[in-house]
Amino acid sequence: MAAGITGVGRILNNRIAVMHGVNLDQLGQRDPAHYGSMDLAALERQIGQWAQGLGLSARFFQTNHEGVFVEHLHGLRGLADAVILNPGAWTHYAYAIRDALELTGLPAVEVHLSAVDRREDWRRRSVISELCVATVSGKGPDGYREALEILSKELT
Ligand code: DQA
Repeated sequence: MAAGITGVGRILNNRIAVMHGVNLDQLGQRDPAHYGSMDLAALERQIGQWAQGLGLSARFFQTNHEGVFVEHLHGLRGLADAVILNPGAWTHYAYAIRDALELTGLPAVEVHLSAVDRREDWRRRSVISELCVATVSGKGPDGYREALEILSKELT
């Protein structure tokens, strides 16, 4: 259980950083069989609404540059209480992102829209999953709701 300041019936450690990596800005253009038809702006709006419903506050970030993703992780300490991340293809090989996630010391949930374990072999490997409280994949946008619910419990 994470330490937090308890307010009047409400936890105050409720800031969730939602991070999308490489090619996720192309949602809506990518293969709908794997990624659905929602674009990133609509997905973020939906995640924001789910977060609000759970009493969480979500902030969003996307980049196609690995170093920028790493530096965003570096800056999270003190600004976020937990992380939801979908690093896209970086998931499968980017050890720099793995190390930066470890440095944050924050509870994290890994989300993939598609069922990475039922696609190409190279997608089955995640270099971040051992650092995450949970991995949710193959559930489309609903996977983010599940991730928020997991972190909501984790932060209480
Ligand atoms: C993804 C799965 C990755 O394998 C892929 O490279 C992506 C998106 C997903 O959300 O299903 O870009 O992370």
